[in-house]
Amino acid sequence: MNVAIMGYGTVGSGVAEVLKKNHEHIVKKSLQESLDLKYILDLRDFPGDPNEKLVIKDFNTILNDETVGVVVETMGGLRPAFEFVSACLKAGKSVVTSNKELVAAKGLELLALAEENNVNFLFEASVGGGIPIIRPIIQCLSANEIEEVAGILNGTTNYILTKMFMQGTAYEDALADAQRLGYAERDPSADVDGIDACRKICILADLCFGREVKPDSFRVEGIRNITSADVGYARAWGGVIKLIASAKSENGGSNISLRVSPAFISGDSQLACVNDVFNAILVRGNALGDVVFYGRGAGKLPTASAVVADVIDCARHSERRKPFGWSDAPDGFVLGEGEFTSRFFVRTQSVKESVLSAFADAEFITFDGAPADETAFVTGMIKKQELDEKLAALGGVKSVIRVTDY
Ligand code: HSE
Repeated sequence: MNVAIMGYGTVGSGVAEVLKKNHEHIVKKSLQESLDLKYILDLRDFPGDPNEKLVIKDFNTILNDETVGVVVETMGGLRPAFEFVSACLKAGKSVVTSNKELVAAKGLELLALAEENNVNFLFEASVGGGIPIIRPIIQCLSANEIEEVAGILNGTTNYILTKMFMQGTAYEDALADAQRLGYAERDPSADVDGIDACRKICILADLCFGREVKPDSFRVEGIRNITSADVGYARAWGGVIKLIASAKSENGGSNISLRVSPAFISGDSQLACVNDVFNAILVRGNALGDVVFYGRGAGKLPTASAVVADVIDCARHSERRKPFGWSDAPDGFVLGEGEFTSRFFVRTQSVKESVLSAFADAEFITFDGAPADETAFVTGMIKKQELDEKLAALGGVKSVIRVTDY
């Protein structure tokens, strides 16, 4: 059986490297007589690259070659990735992708297409890079009702927040550092505005709760507004601030609440010590309790490791479909923003007495060097809508950050 790669960027070239480096071992695991990289589709030329001769420009070469049984999509973006992947599946080729945008937006459709054509569509690398998480959710944790899945799903923002917390670096300087190191793009919006984490939590929610949720169906907040003062309060409270993407079962499983936002995490949480570009995903099962998957959420070889494992799976099980048990969501499945229930950290210009008259259970926080003329506190559990109403009446609100219970 042959393999083709579409998109020879960081991940695509990592896939080619792993396929070559571990060739003998991979063929053995695949239970095929051979598993060779035959084509690399990319519009660019790669003079001097060891795989230069495999580079082609015409997608139809892959589509029309019956010896290609598995196609790796590492192009990124929705178009033309969606069209190319659809065509490959229709042509009876299994597809493996690391493209979270594609899986979050079109996963259900592509899985149906794979099923119709008796091939596989696998995407382990689309969440958490090299961290095994998709397979554990659909296989190892399948005896559990999943109550919640939450994690640090974006390495770039975790690097920025870690610098702010550990070294007192201002947000702009930490971002510039992340750009200099190649973690953040020149336009960093997909990372710092939470878009990347949003796509990943949608995929995890689809798998954990069996219903497709769309990336635009809930509130997503990035880290641009986090200040050194917020970080100081988090430390004084006994925790850290992380960008957390979460999906939680609500109303006995009839609904879920979804959120991507900065959050106060207690210092003794397993997520609190996940630093730099590392990712971690916590899954709360009703039999197992909490389990945390930790590792490199991005990068050439870590991501390629997950992609190639899927390639092996496709080759090994070319006669068998991998079921994902994921279907359309009924209207109202994702709860509205106002229904989101949590504790919240609040900074306001109002005085303590006013805060206490609205939030009798407020837990006040301060630290040496805290901004003057403001009051900071953590609420008890409260619905977001009720919180917003109380804060509107209180006035002078400077920031609101949720507080997790894991
Ligand atoms: N830009 C992402 C991150 C990696 O920083 O985690 C790819 O999903």
